[in-house]
Amino acid sequence: MTKKLWGGRFKKEIDKDFFEFQKSIQYDYKLAQYDIGHSLIHAAALRVAGILKNSEWKKLSLALKEISNEIKKGKFNPDFNSEDIHTDIQNAIEKKVGALALKLHALRSRNDQIAFDERFYCVRKYLDIVPALLNLMKSLLFLGENNRKQKFIGYTHTQRAQVIYFADYLLVFCDMFTRDTERLKRYNENLFIYIGAGALTGSALSIKNYNEAIKESGLIGKDGKIKLARGPLDNVSDRDFIIEFLSILSIIQMHLSRLAEDLILYSTTEFNFIDLPEEFCTGSSLMPHKQNPDFLELVRGNTGKIYGNLVSLLTTMKGLPLSYNRDMQLDKEPLFSSVETIESELKIMAKFIKRIKLNKDVIEKALKDESLYATELAEFLVVKKSVPFKEAHTLIGRLIRDSQDKNKKIKEMSDEELKCYHQELNQKVIRKIMNPEYAVSSKKTVSRKIPKIDARI
Ligand code: ARG
Repeated sequence: MTKKLWGGRFKKEIDKDFFEFQKSIQYDYKLAQYDIGHSLIHAAALRVAGILKNSEWKKLSLALKEISNEIKKGKFNPDFNSEDIHTDIQNAIEKKVGALALKLHALRSRNDQIAFDERFYCVRKYLDIVPALLNLMKSLLFLGENNRKQKFIGYTHTQRAQVIYFADYLLVFCDMFTRDTERLKRYNENLFIYIGAGALTGSALSIKNYNEAIKESGLIGKDGKIKLARGPLDNVSDRDFIIEFLSILSIIQMHLSRLAEDLILYSTTEFNFIDLPEEFCTGSSLMPHKQNPDFLELVRGNTGKIYGNLVSLLTTMKGLPLSYNRDMQLDKEPLFSSVETIESELKIMAKFIKRIKLNKDVIEKALKDESLYATELAEFLVVKKSVPFKEAHTLIGRLIRDSQDKNKKIKEMSDEELKCYHQELNQKVIRKIMNPEYAVSSKKTVSRKIPKIDARI
C-alpha cells in the first residue's frame, strides 16, 4: 500500500483486504495521461491565484511533463499498490520534486479529476474510433468496387427474395457505419471536459484563474473543449456522457455483429458464396477438415459484453443520490472494455473484409433459381400489360408452384403452356424478365452513388 491522499481523521489502518477491494489503479492507470492534463491546468490556476510561486509552478509543471513523456514512451510503470491513478501520479511527482508535490492538490478533489479524466478519455477515443470506422468503410467499398457488376441474392426471412448487386449489399453496411460516424460526431460536438468542480460545490480558485490556466495549458482547450464546470454538482454527479458513448458503441457493435453473422452464413458449405481469409480462421483439434470463422464468431459474441457494459452502467447509476458516490468508480471497466473491444474489432474487420473472395460460380448457379424473378414477372404484367396486381401475383404464384411440382423449369415451358397462365406470357418475355441484369435494372429507386467518405473529424 503506497501513500494515500487522505487519512488524517483515521485512527486505524485500512483493512488490507478492503484496500485491495476498493482500489482502482489496476484499471484507471489508463487515465494517467488525462490526469496529468488536469494537474497541469490546476497547477497553472494555483499559480495565477498566487497560491504557487512561479518557481514552484515551473518545477511542478516540469515534473508533470516528464511523467507525461514517460507515459508516452511506455516507460511509466504505475504502482499497482496505489489506491488510484490520482494517488499514483501524486506520488510520482513527489518522487521528483519532494515536499513541493504536496501543494498541488490544494483546492481540488479526485471527484473533479475523475470526471475530467473520463471526459478527456472519451474525446480522445472518439478521435481514434471515427478513423477506424472510416477505414472499415473503405474496405467495404474496395470489395464492392472489385465486384462492381456482380449480382447477388437478396434475402428476407433468410429466404431467397430478389436479385441485388453485391456492391449494393455492401453499401448497406457502409450506410450503417456512416450513420454511426455521424452519431459519434454529434456526440463529440456536445462533449466538453470540465474542470473546477472541487469535491461538489466548486473551487475557491476563481473563474478567471482557471480560464487563464486553461488557455495557457495548450491542451485541447484551444478548440474550447476544456471548460470551467458550469454546474459543479452536476459535473461530479453524472456519467451520462459515458452512458451515451456506450450506447453509440452498442449500435456500432450491433452493426458489426450483423455483418459478422451474414459472413458466417454465406461462408458455410450450405451457402458457399464466399471464402473467408484463412489467416483469420482457426482449425479444429479433432476434425482435420475444419476451418472455423472464429473472428466473426467472436465479434458476434462480443455483443453480449458490449450491451452488458451499457446495461451495467445504466444500472449502477440508477437511483444514486446526488452527488458523487463511490459506486461510480465502477464506470471505468465497462467503458474501457467497450472502447477497446470496438477498436480491435474495427481494425481487424477492415483487414478481413478486403481479403474476402467470392465464389462466383456458386453465386451464378444460385441466381438461376427462377423464383428469384417471380416478383419481376408479376411487376412486368402490371407495369407493361396493365394486369391488376392481385391477379398477376396469383397467377405467377401458380406458375412457380406448378414448375416446382412438375419439376419443370419455367424457361423450359412452351409458349402454349405459358399462355395458360396469361396471354401475355411467352418464352420471349420469360427470357427477357428472368435474368439478373433485367432484375436489377428494373429498379429505379436505387441510388448507385458510392458515398464519399469524409475523413475530417
Ligand atoms: N477512483 C474514484 C472513481 O473512479 C476516484 C474518485 C474518488 N473520490 C473519492 N471521493 N473517493 O470514482
